[in-house]
Amino acid sequence: GPQVARLVASRVLDVPDFPKPGVVFKDLMPLFADGAVFREVIDGIVAYHGRESFDAVAGIEARGFVIAAAIAYATGVGVVPVRKAGKLPRATHSASYALEYGEATLEVHQDAFTAGHRVLVVDDVLATGGTAEATLDLVERAGGTVSGFTVLMELAFLKGRERLAPRPVHALLTV
Ligand code: PRP
Ligand code: HPA
Repeated sequence: GPQVARLVASRVLDVPDFPKPGVVFKDLMPLFADGAVFREVIDGIVAYHGRESFDAVAGIEARGFVIAAAIAYATGVGVVPVRKAGKLPRATHSASYALEYGEATLEVHQDAFTAGHRVLVVDDVLATGGTAEATLDLVERAGGTVSGFTVLMELAFLKGRERLAPRPVHALLTV
């Protein structure tokens, strides 16, 4: 609820001109670094989705890994990493996309998901939605079904949510 949103807002640092001139980067590392806040944020996400709405969690490199692992541990499901190109050791599916400040390729292991498993996709920030949309494509190609997306913070002016419609997107804080 609004209490968790305020908690997230209180821990975000605005970094001007990172990683490129003109971008104000939202740095959520201070939230991860505070044990009590991190726990409250993870508990808030788990309370929102419940324990029955997904069978696996997909974490997007790099900050999504931290959040996804905590949700997986709290709910007893497994966590699957969605990684930048060239990092995964076995056969992968691969998807390229544009993001707010550049271009990138994400990959997932071809056998990462059990067929029909409902996958909650997790990241720190939803901006243009390019990363999340590429992840949706990867999860589906790897045999999973995306139950929804969950992020700590949504940059609404970049309209990522519209790109993911009609799939549900939950953000603890929308700015
Ligand atoms: C950031 C963020 C999301 C993505 C959101 O990661 O953590 O994954 O960008 O942007 P989008 O909605 O416009 O696609 P980044 O690509 O900077 O990679 P990193 O986590 O490895 O630093
Ligand atoms: N912070 C973190 N990740 C991001 C941002 C940001 O400001 N913009 C796009 N991805």
